[in-house]
Amino acid sequence: MWLLGTAVLLAVLAGAGSDPSCYGGINKDPLSCSTCDGVCSVDTGCICKNSTKLCVPEVNTCLMNSSACCLPDLSWQPQLACCTVDPYCLSSCLSDEVCKYVNHRPTCSANETFYRSRNYKLTNITRIIECRASNMTMSVGKNLLEFLNYKPSASSLLQPNCTKAVEDIVQGQRVYSFTAPCKIDKCVNTIEKNTSHVTFRNTLLIPASSDSGIVTVNDLSLDFSCTYALNLQSSLLTVFKPVMSSANLNTGNSESKAETTIAAYINPSYTEPLQQEDQQQLSMGSTIYFGVSTNFYDSDFVLRVETCFASPTDDSTSPTKVMLLENGCSSDLGQYIQVFDNGKTKEVRFSLVSFAIQGYDTIYIFCGARLCLNSTGTCSGCLKTRAVIEDTVQLGLGPFSFIGDSSSSGSSTVMSVAFLAASMLAFIFCEINWTI
Ligand SMILES: *[C@@H]1O[C@H](CO)[C@@H](O)[C@H](O)[C@H]1NC(C)=O
Ligand SMILES: *[C@@H]1O[C@H](CO)[C@@H](O)[C@H](O)[C@H]1NC(C)=O
Ligand SMILES: *[C@@H]1O[C@H](CO)[C@@H](O)[C@H](O)[C@H]1NC(C)=O
Ligand SMILES: *[C@@H]1O[C@H](CO)[C@@H](O)[C@H](O)[C@H]1NC(C)=O
Ligand SMILES: *[C@@H]1O[C@H](CO)[C@@H](O)[C@H](O)[C@H]1NC(C)=O
Ligand SMILES: *[C@@H]1O[C@H](CO)[C@@H](O)[C@H](O)[C@H]1NC(C)=O
Ligand SMILES: *[C@@H]1O[C@H](CO)[C@@H](O)[C@H](O)[C@H]1NC(C)=O
Ligand SMILES: *[C@@H]1O[C@H](CO)[C@@H](O)[C@H](O)[C@H]1NC(C)=O
Repeated sequence: MWLLGTAVLLAVLAGAGSDPSCYGGINKDPLSCSTCDGVCSVDTGCICKNSTKLCVPEVNTCLMNSSACCLPDLSWQPQLACCTVDPYCLSSCLSDEVCKYVNHRPTCSANETFYRSRNYKLTNITRIIECRASNMTMSVGKNLLEFLNYKPSASSLLQPNCTKAVEDIVQGQRVYSFTAPCKIDKCVNTIEKNTSHVTFRNTLLIPASSDSGIVTVNDLSLDFSCTYALNLQSSLLTVFKPVMSSANLNTGNSESKAETTIAAYINPSYTEPLQQEDQQQLSMGSTIYFGVSTNFYDSDFVLRVETCFASPTDDSTSPTKVMLLENGCSSDLGQYIQVFDNGKTKEVRFSLVSFAIQGYDTIYIFCGARLCLNSTGTCSGCLKTRAVIEDTVQLGLGPFSFIGDSSSSGSSTVMSVAFLAASMLAFIFCEINWTI
């Protein structure tokens, strides 16, 4: 049976013009696996049962489909179902590659004849930069770099442990890709920021190869960068500790997550996030801008903030509260609290003039947000919809504390804001009584 199977397979391959044959050891060294109860696994290769000796798998005795079960410098040949001396790469190689042994394993690598004939230089190295919302990826052509005696697999960004080389095929070329998060405090990115844009920069360091024992080139460094328009979301990446928090909204039947973030900003264009070191020293009467945004992808849905309130503690169930937004709209008709674009896109903005609740030093902000099916036509506007309460998810932010203007004693700003808070409290208590 065994001989027959081999003969048929060899005949098929002979027709294809190649001449591989199953490796059977030399003078029974190593033993074939069937003579020593050999077992194959991807981790260990094929080894004899009673020893740790490697053995040679035979046709149809080792269903591994991987060169891991062959001895070093042999290749698994799936058509023959055995190991061959000729290099065989299981995934087909690209047009600039040949299959050969690298570190004793069959590997698609640069066809040196091809590269030598084209006289490629460093300037011809492929660099592909991909700028995504939360990270940037630099990909460099593997084969030309290796042909030019670099070792791209050992490349790193400025911070060596930031990311590892990931082999990939991009635009028909074999590349190594390196991904860095776009965030000020990650991977030693340098950032440049002006009023409208932020640029993240990093450098890929590609070492010279010393595999042959001789280093013939200098290490290479390639700079790359991504520029983003500053907006409610991207500006959060440009400060160390923005005042923000996140929660996942209810997505109904969708498997996707709707990660939703609330953050505080100090300017009306939302390009300057409030930083944690400043959140407890806001000047009384200044305006704080809040932005809520979700990454839920489905374009049928928009983000709606139903309610927001301020509470003196981080306990959102505290009975002392000042309503800020109700039924999607400002609780004070826009006098101190303004709401922009609620239920129109995946971002909601509102601002409020900072105030204190009498008798307390701090306030926390809580908002109930939900995804709203835009086609219902009820996502924007001041609508009271009782049915949606269980769909809303609470986002909280705080503590905020305020300092008065010390230069003018008995500041009128503080007075008016205290009055605002008091009048709102009265309003709230009425509302609560009415609800109960
Ligand atoms: C493996 O060892 C057992 C006893 O330890 C022995 O009986 C058996 O014959 C050995 N098998 C081989 C293939 O050497
Ligand atoms: C090995 O490959 C053959 C042909 O591609 C397939 O039929 C078989 O299921 C594979 N075996 C394993 C263990 O993956
Ligand atoms: C390698 O490149 C040379 C020159 O372009 C070409 O003739 C040869 O066929 C290539 N080898 C393989 C295995 O593709
Ligand atoms: C390689 O780079 C040189 C110099 O930039 C250029 O003149 C040449 O056309 C490039 N070769 C290829 C095949 O792109
Ligand atoms: C980079 O960002 C994309 C989408 O923004 C995400 O799918 C991917 O997982 C991120 N990659 C890394 C390594 O963080
Ligand atoms: C990376 O290396 C830096 C400096 O060597 C170290 O401070 C940091 O903790 C490391 N990070 C990780 C994730 O290992
Ligand atoms: C900000 O930087 C971007 C990108 O570098 C540039 O295109 C833009 O003109 C700059 N804007 C200002 C106002 O300097
Ligand atoms: C929501 O629907 C309105 C009209 O029904 C439409 O004008 C608007 O563009 C839609 N918004 C989104 C984000 O699809």
